[in-house]
Amino acid sequence: MVEVKFENVTKKYDDGTVAVNKLNLTVHDGEFLVLVGPSGCGKSTSLRMLAGLEDVTEGQITIDGNVVNDLAPGARDVGMVFQGYALYPHMTVSENLSFGLRMAKGDDKLSKDEIQVRIDDAASLLGLTEQLDKKPKELSGGQRQRVALGRALVRRPKVLLMDEPLSNLDADLRNQMRTEIRRLHDELGTTTVYVTHDQIEAMTLADRIAIMDGGELQQHAPPLTAYNEPANDFVKGFLCKHIDEIVETANNIFQQE
Ligand SMILES: Nc1ncnc2c1ncn2[C@@H]1O[C@H](COP(=O)(O)OP(=O)(O)OP(=O)(O)O)[C@@H](O)[C@H]1O
Ligand SMILES: [Mg+2]
Repeated sequence: MVEVKFENVTKKYDDGTVAVNKLNLTVHDGEFLVLVGPSGCGKSTSLRMLAGLEDVTEGQITIDGNVVNDLAPGARDVGMVFQGYALYPHMTVSENLSFGLRMAKGDDKLSKDEIQVRIDDAASLLGLTEQLDKKPKELSGGQRQRVALGRALVRRPKVLLMDEPLSNLDADLRNQMRTEIRRLHDELGTTTVYVTHDQIEAMTLADRIAIMDGGELQQHAPPLTAYNEPANDFVKGFLCKHIDEIVETANNIFQQE
């Protein structure tokens, strides 16, 4: 059971910006939760506090029942995939996947055999078995993105965090990887928090979406519930915007014909 809880979590940056204001949110065991909202609403800040990359100003974050506010990122057992993922160019796919495991110290240290098992498992899960000896420059964009995902998965984290992981892929690849990420989640069942500003991505990936605006949580609900029963005008406008644009585009095309 890996539950994540934000309890009254506030982040105030040194310059006075309140990026997240009294966030109360529980991510249930095995859930795929998508944090969504316009640029600057506090999505990345929330995720970075959970990962331990930003201090919490007020409130408390728990993972699996343990308060993690003062734990270093490495001690939280979270895997993180960023938008600007960087693979090590001089290392093979296999070496990129295993880098974090090979660097582990103390209790976290794994045997060579166990590391190999984890590389093989992740590669097979992500369709990278044939690419293990290649260098990143010999891979397609989608394959590189899969290596970045694999690097988080080989640690078998309790919680998987992703911040706009698909935003530098073209539309086709994005669709393909979106399906892939959801399939992986269904297979592994890892508690996941995924950040995006894209409504369609949020609606199609999530078990539940949490919509933020101006550092404040506006609503959390399954995608269709939020769409059909928006908690306020902001949510209504935000979720409908994309759909309305699609309808408008379609109408324009019909009128032209
Ligand atoms: N290091 C920082 N110092 C001061 N303010 C910051 C810092 N990082 C972020 N902010 C501010 O905090 C707010 C939330 O930023 P955050 O990066 O969490 O937004 P976001 O929802 O992830 O946006 P985007 O969709 O553009 O990535 C913004 O107003 C931003 O300008
Ligand atoms: Mg962000």
